[in-house]
Amino acid sequence: MKRVKEAVGCLSICLLVSGCGETDTLAIADEKNLHLEVAYGEEFSYTPESLGISANDMEKISYNEIDLNALGTQKIIYQYNDQELTVEVTIVDKEPPVMSAQDITISEQELNAIDSYMQISAVDNYDGDISSSVTCDPIDVSSITAPTVLTRVCSVKDSSGNEAQTTVQINVEESSERIEVYASGVVNGLTVEPHIVENPDSITVMVNKFNALPDDYAPSDLVDIGGGYQLRQEAAVQYAAMKAQADADGIVLNVLSAYRTKSYQEGLFWNYVNTQGEEYAAVYSAVPRRSEHELGLAIDVGDNYYLDENLDHTATGIWLNENAAKYGFIMRYPEDKVLTTQYGFEAWHYRYVGAELAMKLKESNLTLEEYYQVESMEDGNSYRFY
Ligand code: DAL
Ligand code: ZN
Repeated sequence: MKRVKEAVGCLSICLLVSGCGETDTLAIADEKNLHLEVAYGEEFSYTPESLGISANDMEKISYNEIDLNALGTQKIIYQYNDQELTVEVTIVDKEPPVMSAQDITISEQELNAIDSYMQISAVDNYDGDISSSVTCDPIDVSSITAPTVLTRVCSVKDSSGNEAQTTVQINVEESSERIEVYASGVVNGLTVEPHIVENPDSITVMVNKFNALPDDYAPSDLVDIGGGYQLRQEAAVQYAAMKAQADADGIVLNVLSAYRTKSYQEGLFWNYVNTQGEEYAAVYSAVPRRSEHELGLAIDVGDNYYLDENLDHTATGIWLNENAAKYGFIMRYPEDKVLTTQYGFEAWHYRYVGAELAMKLKESNLTLEEYYQVESMEDGNSYRFY
């Protein structure tokens, strides 16, 4: 204010005294406003008036725009005649993510797979959905005897380091459903009584160890995709587009498996059990009616003619990682999500869910299981999470 008054005073003098135009100064009333910290998402006006910047003719002050949605420091340069004044604005995210968690009830054996049963979402004002970054206190499973109630503290940090915490109550029951969980945390699907999905025709339906297809379901719109393989119409069209782009980019993309009938999945699964044992089968093969291949929406792919664990390090795997979601395909069983998906890392298994959901899952690094826990069953189906 003081400077404004001085300027106004000076202006009246200048009307009388010639040659004192230099007193028409671009000034700021409070020097503290030269360096401002603004909370992300907060209303912030940087008009000269709002920041106490003054000159004789306020209309003539020009300045650049800044992006209020970008964290970090930006400069606003106010210009007036040949004078400049720089204000530094630092936008900081100070708000912690918002977590929501459901208390859960599980059996004693299921404690081994406790991480796959946690139902926690975390949404940050800046980072969006960061549910996949939630971590929980470890639990010493060996010291627990059912029935009991445990509390587990889970937390998450946003990219600015703001932390949120929540406490989850876990009711541990003696098992009635005798689900077998291996020490690795992987569940033996044969010991699970699955929920039957209500809408098996939905492109985004979740089928896994706990959610099975109705016994008589078979997709009605299967089409050939070459090599003797079939997919549902929409997935086939998108696969063809993806394959064409891969060819154009010089990428080898072979289909090694696609739609499987129930009886084909039966043969595969029991062959694993009989040759490698139940635990190995539980990690790599779905119990019949619980395979995405039976949906006609899954493909196993490679740059050769075998299932390659290292596919993600090959040109084909790297290309798929970059491009598959655009065509609606996601790598369904990632290496770091074994306890969530309940299957071992399958670099080759891609599931069609449509481009919209695939892009969402890729950007948020969520599996289908995590997505549905967060979205509360968006497609109208109900699912069993454990
Ligand atoms: N290999 C996957 C889990 C399947 O059998 O569908
Ligand atoms: Zn597969």
